Amino acid sequence: MNIAVLGAQWGDEGKGKIVDLLTPHFAVVGRYQGGHNAGHTVYVRGQKFVLHLIPSGILHAGVTCLIGNGVVVDPTALFHEVDELKGLGIDVDGRLFVSDRAHIILPYHRELDVLSEARRGERKIGTTSRGIGPAYEDKIGRRGVRLCDLTDAPALAEEIEHNVHARNQIIKDTHLDWRQVYDTLLAQAERLKPWTTDVSLRLHQAMAAGQRVLFEGAQGTMLDHGTYPFVTSSNASIGGVCTGLGVPPQAVGGVLGVAKAYTTRVGEGPLPTELHGEMGTRLRESGNEYGASTGRPRRCGWYDAVAVRYAARLNGLQSIALTKLDVLDGLETIEVAVAYRIGGRVVEEFPAALPPGEACEPVYEQWPGWTTPTKGATRFDALPEAARKYVARLEEVSGVPIALVSTGSDREETIIRDDRPLAAWLK
Ligand code: GDP
Ligand code: IMO
Ligand code: MG
Repeated sequence: MNIAVLGAQWGDEGKGKIVDLLTPHFAVVGRYQGGHNAGHTVYVRGQKFVLHLIPSGILHAGVTCLIGNGVVVDPTALFHEVDELKGLGIDVDGRLFVSDRAHIILPYHRELDVLSEARRGERKIGTTSRGIGPAYEDKIGRRGVRLCDLTDAPALAEEIEHNVHARNQIIKDTHLDWRQVYDTLLAQAERLKPWTTDVSLRLHQAMAAGQRVLFEGAQGTMLDHGTYPFVTSSNASIGGVCTGLGVPPQAVGGVLGVAKAYTTRVGEGPLPTELHGEMGTRLRESGNEYGASTGRPRRCGWYDAVAVRYAARLNGLQSIALTKLDVLDGLETIEVAVAYRIGGRVVEEFPAALPPGEACEPVYEQWPGWTTPTKGATRFDALPEAARKYVARLEEVSGVPIALVSTGSDREETIIRDDRPLAAWLK
C-alpha cells in the first residue's frame, strides 16, 4: 500500500522524523510540493541531518527518492544539500531524481520575495525569503523555466532575456544582466542532467512493478488551506500528491497526518492558541522550537483541535502520527482548544477568514498533566495514565485515530500502535 505523509498543522510537525522512520517499508519516496523553504530535521543514532528539498527517505540506502513537478527547485540549494549529505556519508547517485517538469527558482525570485515582503511592511507574511512565492507566480503566470527547458539553449536564452527584462522593470535600483543568469543556468544544467527524469513515468513503472511508494509533503495543511494570505504558495494538502507527482488519486492508499501534541507556527498570521507568556517560552525551549531553515523562534501554543479537524476533513486523514508528546512532560495542566469564540458565537469549523489576535478566543478544555516522563517510551501501555488519556482525548476531538506516538527525536523513540490503521498498512 502507498501512503501519503503530510502536515496537519502549520508545518514543522515532525514529518521528517516520521518519513525517515517509515521509509524502510517503501521502495520509493516522492516529494510533491514546496521547495527549500522546508526544513526537516532527522536524527539517526544521535547524528543530525537537515533535509530541505531532498525527501527524508534519502538516509536509507537503496531507496529511490524523487522530487516531483510540483516542487520548485533552486539548483544551488539542491547542490549544497547533495554535497552536505555526501559529506555525512550519504550517497545520492543513481537514486535521487528530479522531475523534468519541475520549475526552477531563479536568482531574482529570491530578490522579489524580499522586495515583496518589504513592500507589505507590517502586513508582511514572514516568508522564508527563498523565492518560493515568486517562482510559483511565474509558474502560474506561464513564464516559468522548467528543468527540461535547460536542454534547449536558444529557447532558454530568449525566455531568460524576457524574464530578466521584466525583473529589471520591477526592481529599478539594480540592473541584472540576463546573460549572467543564463550562463549560470547552463553550467547548472550539466550537473542536473543525470538526475533529470520523467518522475510521473518512473512512479507509474515502480507501482506497476509492485513497489511501494511513500508520498512526502512539506509545510502543513494550514499553510495551504488555512490562514490566507499567511500561507505558502503550494498545495501541501492531499491534492498536491496528484498534481505534484503526476499520479492518480487511486495511487494513494492511506493518508497519515502528522501533528504535534501542541501547536507551533513560524512567520506571521493568526495562531488562535498562541501562548505569549511563560508557557509559550516553556514549550519553545523544551521543544527546541527554532526553525530548521531560518533559525527563527517558532510561535508556540496549545493543541488546536479545530485546525486538526479541518486538516482531517480536507485530507481524508485516516490516521495521525502525534509527535513531541515528551515536550509536555512535567506540565501540571495541558489545554486543548476544541472551538473558537468569535464575536460572541462558538465556532467549531475553521472559518475562511480568522480574525486576528483576541477577536478569536479559543474555547479550552483542561487536562491533567503527568510527572512520569514519556520521553523515549516505545510502548503505549508504558505511558503514564494521564498521557494515555490526553492522547485518547485528542483522538476524540480531532476525529482521527492516533496510530503513532513520537516520544523523542530519534527513530527508536516511537510507539506504533497495533490496534490503529498504520500498523496494518505497513505489513
Ligand atoms: P518537519 O518540518 O515537519 O519535518 O519538522 P521539523 O524537523 O522542522 O521540526 C520538528 C523537530 O522536532 C525536529 O527537530 C525533530 O528532530 C524534532 N522531533 C520530532 N519528533 C520529536 C519528538 O517526538 N520529540 C521531540 N522532543 N522532538 C521531536
Ligand atoms: P516544513 O516543511 C513551517 C511558512 C513561512 C511563512 C509562510 C510562507 O519544514 O514544515 P514561504 O517562504 O513558503 O513563501 O513562506 O510559510 N513556511 C513554513 N513554516 N514549516 C515549513 O516547512 C515552512 N515553509 C514555509 O514561515 O510563514
Ligand atoms: Mg520543518
